[in-house]
Amino acid sequence: MARERKKTWEEKVTLVRASYNRSADTPLFARDFYQHLFFLSPKIKKYFENTDFEHQEKALMAGLKYILDFLDNSNTNARAQVLRLSQSHAKDNMNIYPHDYYYWIDALVMTVKKHDTQWYNDLAFYWREVVFYPVSFMISQYFLPAKPEA
Ligand code: HEM
Repeated sequence: MARERKKTWEEKVTLVRASYNRSADTPLFARDFYQHLFFLSPKIKKYFENTDFEHQEKALMAGLKYILDFLDNSNTNARAQVLRLSQSHAKDNMNIYPHDYYYWIDALVMTVKKHDTQWYNDLAFYWREVVFYPVSFMISQYFLPAKPEA
């Protein structure tokens, strides 16, 4: 039988942020994240053929922070950053297919599970539910036209 959901959104956001703080403070996090991402969908490697991973690993951690800060609707900087990321990932720029975000979330959950020292299985549901909102926002911007050159 399905389980009753008792936690509020705010409680889940707090649990996810605490899980992030326990797990993301290691350079292994981003390295493992990309290993998991390529394991889950090898074709994604093609996007990263010319990528400097030292730089990209830092970019991922900054991006993840924006995603979590975006949940706080009054954080205008996070909103601007996620909008910028949506633009760089959209069809007219890097053309990251919306279906690829599914693996991004899966790789994220695999990675947190590995690095959160207080992991328990319900956290996987909380993480998925919480990142669903900002990731859906990014996906929704896929057809956003590229900004005209200034
Ligand atoms: C919510 C999900 C995601 C976040 C937060 C994120 C974050 C970032 C950030 C911060 C950058 C650095 C460049 C920039 O600031 O525009 C970046 C670049 C990039 N991302 Fe994402 N990303 C996400 C999803 C994805 C997915 C699903 C893919 C592909 C499957 C992807 C592929 C790339 C590629 C190819 C680059 C450029 C790498 C390079 O500079 O060579 N991203 N991403």
